[in-house]
Amino acid sequence: MSGTGPTGGPTSGVTRGPVARDAGGRAAVDVHRADALGSGGSVGSGVPATNGQPLIELAGVRKSYGLGTPVVTEVLHGIDLAVTRGEFVALIGPSGSGKSTLLNIIGLLEPLTSGEYRLLGQSVASLGDAELTRLRSEAIGFVFQFHHLLPAFSALENVLMPQLIRTGHFDAAAREHGLALLAAVGLADAAHKKPAHLSGGMQQRVAIARALSRGSPLVLADEPTGNLDTHSADDVFALMRRFNAERGTAFLIVTHDPRLAARCDRIVELVDGAIAPRPAA
Ligand SMILES: Nc1ncnc2c1ncn2[C@@H]1O[C@H](COP(=O)(O)OP(=O)(O)OP(=O)(O)O)[C@@H](O)[C@H]1O
Ligand SMILES: [Mg+2]
Repeated sequence: MSGTGPTGGPTSGVTRGPVARDAGGRAAVDVHRADALGSGGSVGSGVPATNGQPLIELAGVRKSYGLGTPVVTEVLHGIDLAVTRGEFVALIGPSGSGKSTLLNIIGLLEPLTSGEYRLLGQSVASLGDAELTRLRSEAIGFVFQFHHLLPAFSALENVLMPQLIRTGHFDAAAREHGLALLAAVGLADAAHKKPAHLSGGMQQRVAIARALSRGSPLVLADEPTGNLDTHSADDVFALMRRFNAERGTAFLIVTHDPRLAARCDRIVELVDGAIAPRPAA
């Protein structure tokens, strides 16, 4: 198992999955669409125009578990997907359809088995571990269902954890930055509180501040509201939308909540490890 794709580009004979359609019936996952959007292309109603630059491009991505064992299971069957700068995309689908697996591949947390994946224009197949780690920390922020805050650290320290891990400390400027992010998520007064002293919605807002702390162009969120009551879920969703509008951060959000998916610019649906065509509106 190599975790690397073929050396050819997106058109190198890989099997393509079906092309999804967004609410307007446009091709939503054609890897060439990002280029076709061109400069200033709009991706949906009420959305800031993206500059059309692809952040991620997947072509024919497959993922199997159990390679090298008698039982090999392919769980992603040739995914074609592009997300451009500033997009706000929902990833939906039944339990077990492969949403988290796909997100983990996009987040460089798991290798793909075959196919092509480009992150910020760079084919990940050519990168070693150190380069993957660097690219991941520059390009991507993560928000998970169970926020994964470190209980022994304050909200501020959690927000700055990516920097703390990288450099072993944070300076006054970083502290200011962290406090500003906490203020932006409505938690200016909670900087010194430990996660246990915050509500679920507040903890998730800290996790969003942490995901944004390095200014990554893309945030991957795996059921970020899945553990929250409706009111807190709406707050957390609104926060992500606001950061998308104000900073141009792209979001790819796994959700089981059709209400929230409907408020994204584009919906990509996975069914049994393949992207399902979506009916035209
Ligand atoms: N490490 C693993 N080893 C073997 N199979 C795995 C592994 N991780 C996931 N799978 C399988 O891959 C398939 C997709 O799982 P995945 O967690 O991506 O689904 P999901 O769409 O995120 O589901 P949910 O909505 O329940 O979170 C499932 O059949 C799952 O059992
Ligand atoms: Mg999942």
